[in-house]
Amino acid sequence: MVCCSNSMGIFGLQTFKVKVEADVSDGFPSFDIVGLPDTAVKESRNRVRSAMKNNGFDFPDGKITVNLAPADVRKEGSVYDLPILMALLKYSGVIRKDICDSVFVGELSLSGGICGIHGILPMVIQAKEYGFKNIFIPFENQNEGAVIEGINVFGVRNIDDIFRHFNGKTPLQPAVYEPFSGNDKGIFIPDFCQVKGQFAAKRAVEIAAAGMHNLLLIGSPGSGKSMIAKRIPSILPDMTFEESVETTKIYSVAGKLAEKQGLVTARPFRSPHHTISMAGLSGGGTIPKPGEVSLAHNGVLFLDELPEFSKSSLEVLRQPIEDGKITLSRVSGTIAYPCNIMLVVAMNPCPCGYFGSGQKKCICTKKKVMNYLGKVSGPLLDRIDIQVEVSPVDFKSLNSQQQSETSAEIKNRVNNARLMQTQRFKDTPFTCNAKISAGMVNQYCVMDNNAKNMLEKVFDVLGLSARAYDKILKVARTIADLDNSDIIRQHHIAEAVQYRNLDKKYWQN
Ligand SMILES: Nc1ncnc2c1ncn2[C@@H]1O[C@H](COP(=O)(O)OP(=O)(O)OP(=O)(O)O)[C@@H](O)[C@H]1O
Ligand SMILES: [Mg+2]
Ligand SMILES: [Zn+2]
Repeated sequence: MVCCSNSMGIFGLQTFKVKVEADVSDGFPSFDIVGLPDTAVKESRNRVRSAMKNNGFDFPDGKITVNLAPADVRKEGSVYDLPILMALLKYSGVIRKDICDSVFVGELSLSGGICGIHGILPMVIQAKEYGFKNIFIPFENQNEGAVIEGINVFGVRNIDDIFRHFNGKTPLQPAVYEPFSGNDKGIFIPDFCQVKGQFAAKRAVEIAAAGMHNLLLIGSPGSGKSMIAKRIPSILPDMTFEESVETTKIYSVAGKLAEKQGLVTARPFRSPHHTISMAGLSGGGTIPKPGEVSLAHNGVLFLDELPEFSKSSLEVLRQPIEDGKITLSRVSGTIAYPCNIMLVVAMNPCPCGYFGSGQKKCICTKKKVMNYLGKVSGPLLDRIDIQVEVSPVDFKSLNSQQQSETSAEIKNRVNNARLMQTQRFKDTPFTCNAKISAGMVNQYCVMDNNAKNMLEKVFDVLGLSARAYDKILKVARTIADLDNSDIIRQHHIAEAVQYRNLDKKYWQN
């Protein structure tokens, strides 16, 4: 007799239905799993056997074959423990109810406990799409599964929970999502009111956050670059539910959700150290896990001390920054992770830090300066929409008692500008000005005549690339949004152009 249960497999962010079939026939007692299982899946045999015995259930006698269909797709991980157990409990008659409309995922401990797994959110979404009525997941992942409505999500702690549920003794209640108390990172986010002066830099950061534009902060040591960048999370626009779900999927697969955190609700701010490996940044492993660039999806990737990062790591970022997704190829297949990010980078202009500062004399040779700046390649620089010089704050501002604007005030304006973008792009795949695709820039960035004339002149004088032209227009679009204006005017263009002229000062001398 063959008994079945349903489960879900996962590869990257892609999920697929897995049918678990268990057959017990006469013969020498054995337990085989077929259907391209990896080592963890094969080891399921031992966990299932011990869990059943330790909970007083008879382990079927005979030759057991478990097939995981489709047989030609690799199965990895320990998610199949629970569905295999279910198929066997069904066989031995312990569970008599129909389980065809339910999906089971979870790892078993030897004593019969059900342990948490990665990738629950994408699995629940897919199970709902397949039309299943119920999904049984580890209790630990319950809040994450409960994010999705329209399917009953049951968190199970152990075999006993399952047994009691299906025999009607103590039916489980479908989980209800509980918003995560405390902020997503569990840390305090500093506020912009602590940054004295620095109006130009703060303005640039506000524009960048409003339109998700890539941002470069360059300046001498101690001028406040890191201080400003670390405050960016406090003014990022609120996340929509769809964005939260997208980002949570990545955190779920990477196993980076905090305990009881069902949903990532604050935009991520990832700031890897410059010693990070290429795989750490872009994603790696035999079955690749998301890297920092994907963990920053819908948020910020902050690279402090940019020239210290290995050149190969930086070059790997070029394509994903442009495309909003990163593709990783392995023997086992190709995985794509989204990475719609705002890249923020900070750097000194030279090894001593004072080149072009006018504050202290730079002691580096010209060659040294060029080598240092050369670590940031032209194509990477070209992808940065807003470049600002951060000069040290003067004594008067530093000593002033005047309260600087708070992050909440800035965030308010950023949210308004973002709302205009959401309206504008409601029928398109992009969500913010920085991500307008190349062919659509003119359609969404409408200028008045004065603005057009100005941009034309600037284009000739500065000898801009086509990409720079697009970037200026997109930044001008965000500046106009912050100004509540549907049309891009001359002063919006003038300000946007200002943010593109640092390559000249530093990189082209
Ligand atoms: N505008 C400012 N208002 C208040 N404090 C400031 C300001 N600018 C700098 N500081 C102080 O100086 C410290 C150093 O700033 P920060 O680390 O951001 O400099 P940096 O530009 O990143 O320097 P480096 O190039 O060495 O990394 C800050 O922690 C802060 O205490
Ligand atoms: Mg710094
Ligand atoms: Zn120097």
